Amino acid sequence: MSFLEDVKTRRSVRAFDGKAPSAEIINELKEYAENITNPYGVNVRFVFLDAKENDLSSPVLSGETLYVSAVVKKAEHFEEAYGYAFQKLLMKAHQLGLGTVWIGGTMPRDKFEAASDLKDGEYMPCMSPLGVTAKKMSVKEVLMRKGVKADTRKAFEELFYNGSFATPITESASMGMGLHDALEVVRFAPSAVNKQPWRIVIADRKAHFFEAHDKGFVTPDYDLQKIDMGIALYNFETQLLSEGRTTELSCEKPEIKAPEGMDYIATISF
Ligand SMILES: Cc1cc2nc3c(=O)[nH]c(=O)nc-3n(C[C@H](O)[C@H](O)[C@H](O)COP(=O)(O)O)c2cc1C
Repeated sequence: MSFLEDVKTRRSVRAFDGKAPSAEIINELKEYAENITNPYGVNVRFVFLDAKENDLSSPVLSGETLYVSAVVKKAEHFEEAYGYAFQKLLMKAHQLGLGTVWIGGTMPRDKFEAASDLKDGEYMPCMSPLGVTAKKMSVKEVLMRKGVKADTRKAFEELFYNGSFATPITESASMGMGLHDALEVVRFAPSAVNKQPWRIVIADRKAHFFEAHDKGFVTPDYDLQKIDMGIALYNFETQLLSEGRTTELSCEKPEIKAPEGMDYIATISF
């Protein structure tokens, strides 16, 4: 399957079949996790947690037996690095046939943090269950998806711009620019409450990423929507790499006037 297909076939899974996933698959994922890096060079530590052994559960999940949490220390750009690295792991899990869902809110946080053995200065913003997807979605799951309109995404022209924020990119224009699939994998990325905070301005073979802030996502310790931005950066870069292009991430604010409440995050040159 291509990366584009992987992204399009992924969805948040909140109902599992109650059985432990195969040890072989989990071992492959653990090995993969050991070697995950990110363009920011920030260390992200993954912790695999058995649900029973650690007495863990989440009010939005059913039938899961295993979780993976991700732990990080505060550093420059740690949220974007975190989103990038954890998305890389969760896409691999999807490729291995496992169901996952980013959970940043709906969990007994104290218990997951204790089980993840947080050291001084470490944070565990999110975790995900890892399991075999149940044949049928749970009623809770169907309602949650409806609540956040999880099956819809903003249109190209609401998210992507050419040269400045004054010129939106339509889907057909993105094809002419050779960027359709790279933008599509950003559009389909998961985000907290499906807010899709990413905005991209394309200029001179550079994609400048901006964050459109919504209220209620910044905690004293981190900004959940910056984690969404890291997810978008991973998807965009991985699609371009799969097309045989080379990419480079940098953080130098371009001379582009951004609307109110919009923060510059990073640039991917391609
Ligand atoms: C950083 C982040 C945090 C999230 N936190 C939660 C959460 O606490 N509970 C939950 O049920 N879903 C959570 N989600 C999942 C989103 O609701 C989901 O990705 C979005 O609705 C889009 O649906 P999809 O993943 O099926 O495409 C989170 C997603 C992200 C990226």
